[in-house]
Amino acid sequence: MRLYADTADHELIREYTRYGVLDGVTTNPSIVAATDGTYRETITSIAELIDGPVFAQVLAEDAAGMIEQARAYDEWAEDVIVKLPATRAGYETLDRVRTEGIRAGITVVFSLSQAVLAAKNDATFVAPYVARLTDAGEDGVDVAAAIGEAFDAYGYDTEVLAASVRNEFQVRRLYRAGIDAITLAPAVFEAQFDHRGTEEGLAGFREAWGERGDPLATRAETEVESEAETGTEVNAGAETGTGTEAGIRE
Ligand code: G3P
Repeated sequence: MRLYADTADHELIREYTRYGVLDGVTTNPSIVAATDGTYRETITSIAELIDGPVFAQVLAEDAAGMIEQARAYDEWAEDVIVKLPATRAGYETLDRVRTEGIRAGITVVFSLSQAVLAAKNDATFVAPYVARLTDAGEDGVDVAAAIGEAFDAYGYDTEVLAASVRNEFQVRRLYRAGIDAITLAPAVFEAQFDHRGTEEGLAGFREAWGERGDPLATRAETEVESEAETGTEVNAGAETGTGTEAGIRE
């Protein structure tokens, strides 16, 4: 299973990489438009940050323009995957660039049929738009799952990459369906880490441990600390002949 971040935010990409959970970064024209860089600068700067693919979407609407952009993106960095739209020009471009060995797939997918056509053309991935399908009255997670089942039945290697995922409930359903890959915007990505039950559980452990201090402390260090806190000497009992060397071992 691969998890991608749908963002161009360098800080977040670094952060998720530190947690060891990030397999790549997806972008789309809206995400790139919100940066200060050129299209190329944005894509190449992300590619430098991660050990995994960065997905870059073409903007042209005709096949000739898409082919030109796909070839250029492919040269920008070692691990670029080209996103083509689920349009006739997109499929024509896919057919052409895949025979050239360029990694590319189909995005903005709204049906099983669009996904199967892409897989027939050896798409690297297809990206069903889960929440937008749900907005349109379908169950987006079911559509993504059906695409995965069809690909398994036909033996296609094309990755099912669930996109447009807007909440943690959808994420959990996608996990249960065994979807190959999911891309998440930062707010949804972060929601995966947090749970009130975890916070409450940890608060209980902190309370139970109280002021006992460093769990790595040796017995001697613990005793010195407790002497300092209570103002007593641990082996004070030795003077009266009732103590032991450590003063507390009896
Ligand atoms: O990568 C596709 C995604 O960004 C679209 O998400 O929430 O606009 O449907 P959304």
